[in-house]
Formats: sequence, C-alpha cells, structure tokens
Amino acid sequence: MEKKPYYITTPIYYPSDNLHIGHSYCTVATDAMARYKRLQGYDVMFLTGTDEHGQKIEAKAREAGCTPKEFVDRIVEGPRGVKALWKLMNISNDRFIRTTDDYHVAAIQAIFKKMYDNGDIYKSVYKGKYCKDCESFWTDSQLVDGKCPDCGRAVTDAEEEAYFFRASKYSDKIRDLLLNTDFLEPRSRVNEMINNFIDCEGGLQDLCVSRTSFTWGVPVDFDPGHVVYVWLDALFNYVTALGYCNDKYDELEKFWPGVNIVGKEIVRFHSIYWPAFLMSVGLPLPKKVYGHGWLLLDGGKISKSKLAEQKAANVVDPYLLSERYGVDALRFFLLRTFPFGSDGNFSNELLLQTINTDLANDLGNLVSRTVAMVRKYFGGTLPEDQASDEAQDGELLAMAAGLRDRYEAEMEKYQFQNAIGEVFKVISRANKYIDETAPWVLAKDEANRPRLARVMYNLLETIRLCGGLLRPVMPDTADRIMARLGGAASDWDSLQDFGKLSRTVTVVPGDALFPRIDIPKEMEALAEISNGPKEEEAPQEEPVTFKENIAFDDFEKVDMTVVKVLECENVKKSKKLLRFTLDDGSGTPRQILSGIAQWYQPQDLIGKTLVACTNLAPRKMMGLDSCGMLLSAEKGETLSLLILDDAIPAGAKLC
Ligand code: MSP
Repeated sequence: MEKKPYYITTPIYYPSDNLHIGHSYCTVATDAMARYKRLQGYDVMFLTGTDEHGQKIEAKAREAGCTPKEFVDRIVEGPRGVKALWKLMNISNDRFIRTTDDYHVAAIQAIFKKMYDNGDIYKSVYKGKYCKDCESFWTDSQLVDGKCPDCGRAVTDAEEEAYFFRASKYSDKIRDLLLNTDFLEPRSRVNEMINNFIDCEGGLQDLCVSRTSFTWGVPVDFDPGHVVYVWLDALFNYVTALGYCNDKYDELEKFWPGVNIVGKEIVRFHSIYWPAFLMSVGLPLPKKVYGHGWLLLDGGKISKSKLAEQKAANVVDPYLLSERYGVDALRFFLLRTFPFGSDGNFSNELLLQTINTDLANDLGNLVSRTVAMVRKYFGGTLPEDQASDEAQDGELLAMAAGLRDRYEAEMEKYQFQNAIGEVFKVISRANKYIDETAPWVLAKDEANRPRLARVMYNLLETIRLCGGLLRPVMPDTADRIMARLGGAASDWDSLQDFGKLSRTVTVVPGDALFPRIDIPKEMEALAEISNGPKEEEAPQEEPVTFKENIAFDDFEKVDMTVVKVLECENVKKSKKLLRFTLDDGSGTPRQILSGIAQWYQPQDLIGKTLVACTNLAPRKMMGLDSCGMLLSAEKGETLSLLILDDAIPAGAKLC
C-alpha cells in the first residue's frame, strides 16, 4: 500500500549569529513530530533551512568585514554552524533550503512577477516606521511606547518608493480562516491576530514588499533597484523547496499543503500574510500553523542580541549542552519540560534535575534493574513456563496496553509534554511493580520460578512499549533499549498491544543509559564556563577533633550493613527528615529516618547503595519508627552520604 504523504517545516532561521537553545527547541519539536509520523507509517518530508537575506545580515557582514554571502556561509556551513548543529542534534530533515539558493531566488522573482501581473502587487510610496532587527514595518498605532512591538527596539522613519501587496483584499477571507477553521493553533492565538491586525483601526494594511535602501535581497528583475522584502522571500520557501516555480524539485503535488511550526512572534506573518500570499498565487493553504511559546531566561525571551547578559547566569549553547549531557537528554528535556503552546523558563539546573529524575532514576534504573535481574535469576533468557497473577499484574498491564492510544492522542495535538508524561506514568508504575512483586523475595524459592519469570516478562515488555514510544524524542535511546531487549521490534503496530515481545526473550547487558549528574558540582562547572573561573574564597577551616580511644570489642559492637534504597520521601511537616525504605538483605524492608533533606532530593537517592548502622536502638521521630542510622560524612555546611558501588549486594557488612 502506498504511504500517505506528510509535510512539516520549521521556520527558516536568520543566520545573523550562531543559534541558541530557543532555536533548537523549535527544530527538536518539529523533528519529533516528523519522526512520529514516520513511525506511524507516513511518507514524511521534513524541511528546515535558513533565511539569509535582509538589511540586518547586510549590516552584520559589513561589521565582520566580509560579503553577506561569505558571512552567511560561515554561519550555515561552518564547523559549528547551523547544518552541523542539526546533524549533531540528530535532526532528521529531508531537505535544507537556503534562501540564497539559485532555484529559490529565481522562483521568488517569478512569484513576485506573478503577483504583480495579477494586480495584487502595486507600486506606491512607503511612509512609516521600520524595525531593522525584525525586518518589519509598523504603523504608528502598532508601536509600543514608540518602539517595535516585537523586540522593543528603536524604529526608524522610512519613506521610499516601494511595491505593496494588497493584503487588505484578503481581510475577510483571513478572518474567516482564523475564526472558523483550526488552521491556527493553539486557538488562544487567534483573537490576538484578529484584534491587533485585522479588526484594528484602519483594518488589515497592505504590506510593503520591496525595499530600495539596501541591496542584499532577491532583486525585482523587472525594476532594478528594488529588492524583495525579506518576509515574502522567506515565506515562499515552504513551497519553492518542493518545486514551486522551479524545476529543481517536483514534489509540490505530493506534499503540499503541509504543517508549519513557528514561534509565537512570527505567527502574524504565518497566519495572515502567508495565507494571503498563497490565495494570491492560487495555491492551497497550509494544513496548520502551530505557534509555539518561547524559552525564557529570567522572564525574557532568549534572544541572540541579549545573549551576552543572559549567558552570565545560564549556558544556552546547544552545542555545549549536547556534548556535555548527550543529545537525547537535551532533546528530552526540551519536550518533557515545557508545554509546547506556552512560554517556559529555561535553566541549566532544571535540565540537570530532569536528567537525574526522569532519565537516570525512573527510566535508566528501570532498564538496568530489570536487565540485571533477568541475568541474575535466569542467566539472561526467560523460560517458557510463566505464571501470571491478575491481582498483581492487572493494573500495569492495562496501563501499558492503552499507552499507544493515549500517547497518540497527545501527539496529534502537538502536546509533546503530555505524550511523554503518559509514557512516564507507565514507567513509574513499572518501578512500583518491582517493589510490589519483590523479585528478590520470589527468587529465594525455586517454586516461584514461573511467577518470577512472568514478573520479569511484564517489566521487559513494558520497557519495550515505553522505549518504542520515546523514539521520536530520543531516537538513540530507543535503539539502545531495543538492543538490551535482544533486538526487540518497536514498529508502530508492535507498540499497540501488550505481549508482542518474545516470551523467551534474551536480554543483553550494557552501560547505564543516563549516568547520574552531581548537580551542585556541575552547576559550578557551568558557572565557570559562562563567567570564567570564580575567585578563590578563603576557606573557613573548622578545627578537626578526635574522640577518646575505644577497645576493638567496642568497635565490633557496631553493626554496619550495606543497604539499597527502595523508597525515599520527605516526611510530611518536617523540613529536615527523609523517610527511607531500605533493602538490608534480610528480605524484610527496613525503615530509617534521616535528617538530610536539606542536602538531597528524595528521588535522587532511590536505587542508591548506602551504609546503615543497623543495631542502634529504634526510636520514634515525627511519629515514625527509625530503625538505625544512615552513615554520612559531615564538615561545616557540607554533608555527603556514604554511597557505595552498586555492585556491592545489600546485607554486606562493613569491617
Ligand atoms: N527568519 C524568520 C523566520 C522565517 S520563516 C518563513 C525568523 N528567524 S529567527 O531566527 O529569528 O527565528 C526562528 C525561530 O526561532 C522562530 O520561530 C522563533 O520563535 C524561534 N525562536 C527564537 N528564539 C526562541 C526562544 N527563545 N524560544 C523559542 N523559540 C525561539 O524569525
């Protein structure tokens, strides 16, 4: 059966400077959507590119002492340029358009002529305000405090002979499109467009579409001296890249119309002028324009021009972050943390916490614990003889079996955060299932083997379903997970039902999927990267004291045991106490309360191997029994738990 076509695009980025994490956000989201559609079986065309003309780039090149083309070539094709960034970030675009590509330039000239010939472009005189940074013209009533309403910078008076696009002619059609279809999403952006630009004083204004005051643009071939306004040149990239008005490609019929993903500040161009341009040349309108929110730093948009000050607090370079924490971790963080339609506050600390909590703890531990148990109890291959227990398995199986449908419903709405959230609900449920079924207890009795095998199977199959659905967001991690499951299938059909994994699967061990990060130490390292090394502070040394000598017999009275953290949570109404449930090797979980909440997040400790004094007389704290004491090292303000190598089994003694 022939695959159905699906076309999706990112905006084309201005190569006026290196890209930052805000641009990566938009591209990673679009990539996840493209990968999801491929997974579903669509024939996907995914386009990204660069928007290389305009006054700002011309000015930047002048400052850099090179031609505009040399300037953009460096940023687009250079060693740490745009194309290399998308390669590093595992972006699966099928095509990359540069608006300086010959076929695009020729197509824009033909399009401009076509619109001139049909009467939608006419010559007049432009009088108004122009923002060079946004390449936008504004009327007086649109300015905010006399400044550009988008970027807040100064605008200049502009008066020159120019061509205009008859946008006003399309006003009613655009209002209808916005109000009565789901062309623009999220729907919350519709009223803003209508009130500010269509039903505003004077109505929808005709748009100035040529300039004479600079030369870095597509020349209007029938009127030398004019160059095409950068937005008309840019918007048509979505169709020239498929072959509209050129013969480099021939895929317009197949792929157009598609979905345009854009940031919220360029929704105006994509939801008003872009459909009007398309109506003018007689092309179908995009299936959808989705206007996502911004990544913010300290409440303001991360932007190229403010980066110098913003960088002081946070590293926003996608190269550096990808190289330091891994591409999948960064991709995951961007889509897991921020609701796509709204703004979100970016911070390095949030990134590190997300990696530790979701990836190292929840997902990573689930995979490594399960694979380790299958190897330990079954030598790596599950036996055929397996015994279910409806009461114990029912909830996990039901959650996992319906996961693909719930995930799909969210992805279809571009709600990446919720789609990932659905997967992580199942991952948490699976971790709880390990505690409930206590495989280490089952393993003690040979008669439980079939039951233990079934518990392991349920876990492996849950991991397969979750790993497969995380593929659009973390393609490499999905591959690594399937490799652990002996090369299990993860195609769309196989993700529909629980039970497609071979019953006698053989697992393959591997490194931790996501190594845990020491957050305070890493934050210091990042601060040094953005600010340079900090000046040495004179350490406030505490005198070291020693207690009186004791006899060896006295020392031997203290029972120090290796324990594994099964559960850890804050004690309600206590700022200091954490409540631990520990595996001390005895088969019965042990509860210990420890006053270390100031230093540790409970979720960061789950799965850790610690040391406890296990023969201290039990005592009550906040109404709860504490049976022992966890060992930690303390000096001044610093406290660190004794964390041992995970290879040491619970119940081992310190001697
Ligand atoms: N060249 C135009 C787009 C033309 S599309 C026909 C442009 N370029 S841009 O480089 O300034 O921005 C490209 C995209 O990056 C926009 O969608 C913008 O919203 C997005 N982002 C830039 N900074 C961003 C954040 N801080 N957060 C999220 N997205 C951000 O506009």
